[in-house]
Amino acid sequence: MKKELSRIAKDTNLFLKKYLKKQKKSDLMSAMRYGLFPGGKKIRSKILIDIGSLFSINYKSLIVLGAAVECIHAYSLIHDDLPCMDDDKIRRGKPSTHIKYGESTAVLAGNSLLTMAFEILTSSDLKLTKKIKINLIKKLSECSGHLGIAGGQYLDLSYEKKKISKNKIIEMEKKKTGKLFSFCCAAPAIIKKKKIREIKSLEIIGSQIGLLFQVADDLIDFKGNSKLAGKKTGKDHKKGKATLISLFGYSDTIKYCDKVIENINKNLSKYGSNTKKIRDTLDFMLNRNK
Ligand code: IPE
Ligand code: IPE
Ligand code: MG
Ligand code: MG
Ligand code: MG
Repeated sequence: MKKELSRIAKDTNLFLKKYLKKQKKSDLMSAMRYGLFPGGKKIRSKILIDIGSLFSINYKSLIVLGAAVECIHAYSLIHDDLPCMDDDKIRRGKPSTHIKYGESTAVLAGNSLLTMAFEILTSSDLKLTKKIKINLIKKLSECSGHLGIAGGQYLDLSYEKKKISKNKIIEMEKKKTGKLFSFCCAAPAIIKKKKIREIKSLEIIGSQIGLLFQVADDLIDFKGNSKLAGKKTGKDHKKGKATLISLFGYSDTIKYCDKVIENINKNLSKYGSNTKKIRDTLDFMLNRNK
């Protein structure tokens, strides 16, 4: 599992480096690279590849698609760390982008990574028909905007220091983090022109996987080691973030995660024994320390 993740990270970074090299130079490029490299775990790309292999999609296409997703993810982290959001100074074991480059540059580098993701989907590096690319771009934009990451981040911030119900917290986590995972699970089915029903059911699986991932991140914030995590821990409680841990405590939240995994496995069961890799990835998500 770890080996495969590091191979995916290497291939994704290689693609992104080449892609950036082909671009005209600009003064924002340095901050964009800083937020993007060496980058994090590439867990979203891993899910994309796990689901992609169920649909026999070639590895290279999945790496390009994953690279676009990782650009959006990197943008979301740059903005998440800004003083007007979580105000965090360390990210991926180094000073956050706004600490290194200043706030306005961080905002603009984030914007540029977000739009670059869509540029990557239109590029000839992704060998798919125009129709499929448009469908992918539509889905990825929906998952990034007010119904996805941005909308979820809004809820996350507006829920600070308030008593929020379990369902509302879950909805917020599914938006801010789940939606990008929904895209990763739906994209292979979109590429294979599957029926809307199957695409929708994969989106639901993705949203549950994203929820699991975010709750695991909340658990790491609660108990984890900041050196290993590469970011400060214990910050959610200080900021009064609404999390399942703040509602139910640590061990009941772990029990809840087990239920989410059970649910995901049930929904995946129609894909038969081919889902072992995804199940391993889920196990890794919950038991990781960073
Ligand atoms: C951190 O995501 C933010 C969340 C959505 C929980 P990751 O844990 O995937 O961050 P990197 O990419 O590995 O740094
Ligand atoms: C971030 O969630 C979710 C995003 C969509 C960026 P967190 O705020 O919990 O992520 P960390 O803990 O700062 O990485
Ligand atoms: Mg946040
Ligand atoms: Mg944060
Ligand atoms: Mg967190």
